[in-house]
Amino acid sequence: MNWPPIDVPILGRSGLIALIALVHIPFFVNFVMGAPVIAVISEWLGKRSGDARYDQFSKHLATMAFVTVGVGAFGGIGLVATNIGLFPKFFATGAGVFFWPLIMEIGAFLMEAIGIGIYRYTWEKHKHQTRHFVIGWVAALGAWLSGFIINGLASFMLTPGKWVQSKQVIDAWFNPSFWPSFTHRAVAAFSITGFFMIIYSLWMARRSKSEEEKNYAEWSLRYAGKWALIATALQFFPGVWYLTSVERGTSLAAPEGSVVPKLLNGQLTFFWFGGIILAATAILIVYFLSVQSPKYGLKPLGRLGLILSVLLIITTTAFMGFTRERSRKPYLVYGVIYGNQMMVDMMKGGENAPEASGEPIPSAGDPAAGQVVFENGICTACHSLNGEGGSIKALDGVGGRRSLDELHALLLTPPDGMPPVTGTPQELNDLAAFLSSLQ
Ligand code: HEC
Repeated sequence: MNWPPIDVPILGRSGLIALIALVHIPFFVNFVMGAPVIAVISEWLGKRSGDARYDQFSKHLATMAFVTVGVGAFGGIGLVATNIGLFPKFFATGAGVFFWPLIMEIGAFLMEAIGIGIYRYTWEKHKHQTRHFVIGWVAALGAWLSGFIINGLASFMLTPGKWVQSKQVIDAWFNPSFWPSFTHRAVAAFSITGFFMIIYSLWMARRSKSEEEKNYAEWSLRYAGKWALIATALQFFPGVWYLTSVERGTSLAAPEGSVVPKLLNGQLTFFWFGGIILAATAILIVYFLSVQSPKYGLKPLGRLGLILSVLLIITTTAFMGFTRERSRKPYLVYGVIYGNQMMVDMMKGGENAPEASGEPIPSAGDPAAGQVVFENGICTACHSLNGEGGSIKALDGVGGRRSLDELHALLLTPPDGMPPVTGTPQELNDLAAFLSSLQ
């Protein structure tokens, strides 16, 4: 299974996947996990307190969850299709390692989709009955099981853990950052659902005609705000736990060690720290305009503030996702597969290592031919020239920093994090000559 790499204009390959993920994750992962749980809890609160507002909230939330599950399936397919097309080798590895969990994922999705459908459509008829609560929990379980599986795959990519030696799916699934990452996502589910229900409350206020409907919108804004506020504030604890597990997991996985310094004091600090500041700002806005005084929240300026808080929290998820994905560079699976989809043990002389390509021919290289090798090869996945290409290291002026011999030696024995350079000895000479010409 091999085809020429597909170029994605403007966004780049990872950029396209990131864009789909940005829409898919908050709406179709976080919301779909949070909504059934909050709907069932709200129904239960409605039964206990006799307050019909909880019931209305629960029913509307169930409707939204039902629609979202249906639409969300397309986002999932989109992610699978783009990953197959753009990173086929990596996808094959992931689907091979996680084969059985991914088969279980089908069942989980069905449980979630059918469960939420029944829950919604029997809402009036069976409300407050045990069987209705049970079907609500079944729907929630399906959604969480689905998150449980996908979280295994996503956390495996950063901390492959014992799988590297054992090659057992269970080690890949329950890798060193699995539980903290799952907890982080679980809390995010409530936080994001709370934020989306803030928007719902604004919409209910807009279309309210009677005093009663206005009251409901105000009540709902405060109720949704509480979920958003508490869950987002609590996110601090799994966040710290996750970070320590990533520190441990990545230190073990690759010779260059942990990715955490990149987050705390490196090229990703802006996004990581920025995400925390945005979330803190969103919490403050929600506290004042939704939980404290929803009356102000429903005024024009307050509405703007609340919409801003939702945008801030979505940006936070995007920033955090971006730092997680970027911190892995130059790997797709940390310490195991490079960004260009080559396995690390190929370069370490492991069992998959290619045959040695013979003695280099000591003929002079041709820089023009080398440039072609450079541009057609995998180099630009990680290196840039004149600002174009990967972000691992710019190669502008590398010929001034290193001699031709050094460059040649470097291509034969690449530094940590760089895959072996394949090609004929003549191509290596040409490549070295091209690099040397970059003054
Ligand atoms: C998967 C990522 C990756 C790919 C693909 C890759 N490299 Fe590298 N390269 C690295 C890393 C990581 C370093 C070490 C960076 C550092 O020292 O900061 C490096 C360092 C270098 C350096 C030394 C740079 C310097 O300023 O000292 C050169 C030259 C180089 N690579 C050339 C190439 C060429 C030519 C190709 C294509 C055949 C290539 N690389 C492909 C990751 C990659």
